[in-house]
Amino acid sequence: MTPSPARPPRRLHPFAVRLMHWINAVSVLMLIFSGWKIYDDYPILSWLRFDDAITLGGHPETALQWHFFAMWPLALNGLVYLAYGIASGRFVRRFLPIRIGDVVATLRDTLHLRLGHDDLFHYNGVQKLLYVGVIAVVILQVLTGLAIWKPVQFSEVVGIFGSFQTARWLHFAGMVAISGFVVVHVALALAVPKTLLAMITGGPLEPATIPVETMRANPMSMNPTSEHR
Ligand code: HEM
Repeated sequence: MTPSPARPPRRLHPFAVRLMHWINAVSVLMLIFSGWKIYDDYPILSWLRFDDAITLGGHPETALQWHFFAMWPLALNGLVYLAYGIASGRFVRRFLPIRIGDVVATLRDTLHLRLGHDDLFHYNGVQKLLYVGVIAVVILQVLTGLAIWKPVQFSEVVGIFGSFQTARWLHFAGMVAISGFVVVHVALALAVPKTLLAMITGGPLEPATIPVETMRANPMSMNPTSEHR
């Protein structure tokens, strides 16, 4: 009898993760750019305006429609991603544990321009912190969004934040945090293009799920850098 793996071969980023990641990326970008147009109509900081060239919607009313359209895929896709990440164990496998020592060591390496990402199966301390952080901020963003969208119907949610104005400020602060994340995240993806390719194609097979017979016939089917993990 031919030996078989404990579970079917799985890629670094299974199809479901890639699909959810890209739906999320497009929704978040649509929300940010339409949000900037909505903000311009009713600014929070007197000195801050967003140029029309970098906003989505053209008119505040149209921007609102884009915003209300994109919030559904973000919220629904986000819920499925959370359920999938928890149920499949992906969150624990990829994002935990987060050790302060690892975060400091990664920051030190980055400052010395030693930004390696040889083992795609292993996120470094900063990546783990950023991914868990951005997931938490997006959850908060959906909640503050609900609070300022329908403050009467979601008065309990407004209550969590204290007031409508606090929710509005936190929604703005969440936008700043997510925009900052996107800038760093996209810059790193472009700096290490194999990570971007893997988020499109799925990347290499997880070593633990490669059938023994495939490994014997084609040892390169394994990620060469993750075999000792
Ligand atoms: C449009 C621009 C984006 C690009 C090009 C991009 C690219 C990537 C790439 C290449 C990875 C894999 C990183 C690695 O293996 O080291 C990744 C993972 C991830 N990205 Fe993005 N991303 C984008 C937007 C976003 C946005 C807007 C968010 C959230 C607000 C986000 C959240 C995440 C998360 C949480 C992961 C980890 C996924 C997991 O392993 O389950 N990304 N992204």
